[in-house]
Amino acid sequence: MKITVVGAGNVGATCANVIAHKELANEVVLVDIKEGFAEGKALDIWQTSPINLYDTRTVGSTNDYNKTAGSDVVVITSGLPRKPGMSRDDLISTNAGIVKSVTENIIKHSPDAKIIIVSNPLDVMTYVAYLSAKIDSSRVFGMAGILDTARYRSFLAEALDISPKDIQAVLMGGHGDTMVPLPRYTTVGGIPVTELIDSEKLDAIVERTKKGGGELVNLMGTSAWYAPGAAAAQMVEAIVRDQKRVFPVCAWLQGEYGLKDIYLGVPVVLGKNGIEKIIELDLNADEKALLAESAKAVKDVMNVFDNMNK
Ligand code: LAC
Repeated sequence: MKITVVGAGNVGATCANVIAHKELANEVVLVDIKEGFAEGKALDIWQTSPINLYDTRTVGSTNDYNKTAGSDVVVITSGLPRKPGMSRDDLISTNAGIVKSVTENIIKHSPDAKIIIVSNPLDVMTYVAYLSAKIDSSRVFGMAGILDTARYRSFLAEALDISPKDIQAVLMGGHGDTMVPLPRYTTVGGIPVTELIDSEKLDAIVERTKKGGGELVNLMGTSAWYAPGAAAAQMVEAIVRDQKRVFPVCAWLQGEYGLKDIYLGVPVVLGKNGIEKIIELDLNADEKALLAESAKAVKDVMNVFDNMNK
């Protein structure tokens, strides 16, 4: 098994580190455009192998995609991160160009790869990668839902003073302030969360989750990396180990949830073939309205991209 992570910034390096540590592949290739940067990060990660006791080789490459040839899974994190005051959508024109050229290089050298997008604005960058890769949409998808539900679950664990391990949740929609956490589908050790927390506290947690990425940008002056990197690595794990895990993933919809020709977060089954199934929940009227609002926000940014390319 061979995995490539493009972009050796904080998210990409964290993702590569988790992949190596969990021995998800024989080789992890880290690629970056900055001379020597990926080689340095990869060498540093590799030097943790005798301490953390793993044998996944981690190698770096300055923009040489020959080294990525034959990758089974590729994670694309390239692009500028957010600065305080910026929305994810402000990154569109710069990051679209980067994601397009990276995806073309990747698919040229690894035509059978499954591609996971992490670059922002996430839903639209996944769309850009899909258009550029020209492969089936079951092999091109975005990482957002695992991160957003992880934030939601961590806030709930704190509020309830219980283990985050026992909190299960699903969240839908775009990776932005219109994302749709679903309290009706949130359980704690099998118990509906609504039986354990009052609605005011739950509403506050839902609101904090929607702005979870922005909270970190404001604290650090740049966007987050530990949770985004670990979340992308969890998707890699589901694919390379053919786990058939159920995760919220940014997927290409062709009529599911009444939506068409849009990349949006929905629950899927993730296994060796990539997205093996999109799960359609029976949403109530309120949930449907929130999902429609989120789909509109994503579609607006997709249209900005489409118009830029006319
Ligand atoms: C975040 C970025 C990675 O949500 O989108 O932190």
